[in-house]
Amino acid sequence: MLYVSGKVEVNVMLLKELAASASPLNEQQVHKLTQVAAELSATQLAWVSGYFYGISQQPAGIAAPAPQANAQPAGTLTIIHASQTGNAKGVAEELQAKASANGVAVKLVSAGDYKVRQLKKETHVLIVASTNGEGEAPDDAIQFHKELKAGKAGKLDGLQYGVIGLGDSSYEFYCQTGKDFDEYLSKAGAKPLLGRLDADVDYEEVCEKWSQEAVDLVKDALKGEAANDVAPVVPLTEGATSLYNKKHPFAAELLTNQAITGRDSDRDVRHFEISLEGSDLTYQPGDALGVWFSNDEQLVDAVLAQTGVDASSEVIVNEQTVTIREALINDYELTQGYASFVQSYAELTDAPKLRALVEDKAALREYCANHQILDIAREQQGALTAEQLQASLRRLTPRLYSIASSQAEVEDEVHLTVGVVRFEQDSEARNGGASAYLADRLEEGGQVRVFVEHNDNFRLPANDDTSIIMVGPGTGIAPFRAFMQERDTRDASGQNWLFFGNPHFTQDFLYQLEWQRYVKSGLLNKISLAFSRDQQEKIYVQHKLREQGAEVYEWLEQGAHFYVCGDANKMAKDVHDALIDIVAEHGKKTQEQATEYVDALRVAKRYQRDVY
Ligand SMILES: Cc1cc2nc3c(=O)[nH]c(=O)nc-3n(C[C@H](O)[C@H](O)[C@H](O)COP(=O)(O)OP(=O)(O)OC[C@H]3O[C@@H](n4cnc5c(N)ncnc54)[C@H](O)[C@@H]3O)c2cc1C
Ligand SMILES: Cc1cc2nc3c(=O)[nH]c(=O)nc-3n(C[C@H](O)[C@H](O)[C@H](O)COP(=O)(O)O)c2cc1C
Repeated sequence: MLYVSGKVEVNVMLLKELAASASPLNEQQVHKLTQVAAELSATQLAWVSGYFYGISQQPAGIAAPAPQANAQPAGTLTIIHASQTGNAKGVAEELQAKASANGVAVKLVSAGDYKVRQLKKETHVLIVASTNGEGEAPDDAIQFHKELKAGKAGKLDGLQYGVIGLGDSSYEFYCQTGKDFDEYLSKAGAKPLLGRLDADVDYEEVCEKWSQEAVDLVKDALKGEAANDVAPVVPLTEGATSLYNKKHPFAAELLTNQAITGRDSDRDVRHFEISLEGSDLTYQPGDALGVWFSNDEQLVDAVLAQTGVDASSEVIVNEQTVTIREALINDYELTQGYASFVQSYAELTDAPKLRALVEDKAALREYCANHQILDIAREQQGALTAEQLQASLRRLTPRLYSIASSQAEVEDEVHLTVGVVRFEQDSEARNGGASAYLADRLEEGGQVRVFVEHNDNFRLPANDDTSIIMVGPGTGIAPFRAFMQERDTRDASGQNWLFFGNPHFTQDFLYQLEWQRYVKSGLLNKISLAFSRDQQEKIYVQHKLREQGAEVYEWLEQGAHFYVCGDANKMAKDVHDALIDIVAEHGKKTQEQATEYVDALRVAKRYQRDVY
């Protein structure tokens, strides 16, 4: 299949072959089908296949109902996704396509567009929910989560449900949102169709299995129900989706790799420019770019030596035979630490320190945050087989980077602002997987596999007159560069206020000249800077926000949107607390009222975060 400007260019040859072979279609029908199919995205094609299947199952003589966007006959499966960065949404879309292809009437909806009271009218619901913050629901599911928890759905005795929770086992509240939904639905009297799935970072395979099981169960359950007499009903997805995605990334050319921190900075931040030419990939300010990478060969050799594995041993990856060395370079996660490896390596080598860690969840979490696979293996020399090592490791996952450009300005390029992860472990240099791949191992002119992860939870206001406050210290500046490029080309009249911070003005003022130019042109109305180490006491963006609290509150009262991007562990929490204090002080509210005010901003999508 070829892909041209957002539409699938269906392989005409294939359709013609169909007509010539055992196909029941005549040439004219093939021609019509080719024309229609060329208009559709990959997701829409998957839906159409289910739709036609549904029609084919109807008794002869009954006219096919037209596909409707929102109608919902009895016996329809509803899939609800709650997603921050797109993973849960992607799993839900695959689930939808699977259900559709199996002739199940299915509706896909975001938790943000779904009222809990509707649950009463449902018979079968599957929820795919990721966890955000510290055990919190994704932004667009906050309200849904709150209302379901408060029992606003009422009695749900007539509902059968299934839940996939997506998460990361390195977090304390692993898959909490999925667990919450499971608990709340069960409390309301709904019956589980199948057990909840808690899926870790490498979620694809287990989700695929669970989805097939869920669809089979729903299909059986709906047999004979009214919905089997109607065609599948789904809203056609908004806009065409690209053929390139996480599973099928685009091989893009790296155009520019430029250090944007000074020589004396203690951090290495790079500006990357990547060409999307030749792909149909498009993005909006607020979206992220997914980047696949390969591991450093020297690191791979060190891991093999430490675990006692012969580099030339063969293993099977994706049904192909490769050497374990090749597998470690391309397919397995070596630069992060994770509990499953510690556990497995402890068992295989009987390492006392690792055995003790496995017994202490909090200590294990802390240890994993500060040790990569090589460092974990360094606790004990191994004598593993290639298969044992392979089975202990997690599959490699791509990293996301907030896009730092607007297509209105850079057209078919995409820009990133990447902090390269570099640190020392026992006097040896260690690097992050993707950031060091981009910075050190990928040459300009070389190819990198990328995809766009759309993020509707981080968007400029639809109204160009609306003012915005942007808080983006460090690499958190990235999406705000995109915001300003977009607002510049759109001549947006809303006011723009940037809070930026980093250690030193002279070394770490990312994109300094561009901000100065925007101030001069009048696009950037205010800029508040916090260079933390340029004076005795540390000053961060949250201090600057508090200092300017009266005006921040005034902007909010006048309808401004408030954005935060960057570090989730400390900065985003401190900024959140500062925001509540500002509203309390300058809005003359109690802490409780101020918290409600800030919560309401979030629900109204006027307070959006892109934190990591
Ligand atoms: C939605 C989203 C947007 C993002 N946007 C950006 C962005 O715009 N710019 C950006 O730079 N990043 C961004 N990130 C983060 C990015 O995705 C990666 O997580 C980051 O680049 C690190 O990935 P890596 O592969 O280089 O490092 P990894 O291979 O993930 O290595 C990190 C691991 O190294 C170890 N480690 C790290 N530091 C230390 C230390 N000091 N001591 C001991 N061990 C350590 C830990 O085990 C840690 O897990 C974003 C993330 C998300 C989810
Ligand atoms: C800022 C941040 C906070 C997270 N917090 C949690 C958490 O508390 N518990 C958990 O299990 N996973 C947590 N995760 C991991 C995500 O749930 C996981 O990456 C998931 O696949 C994301 O799915 P989504 O893209 O649909 O949002 C967090 C991820 C990020 C970036």
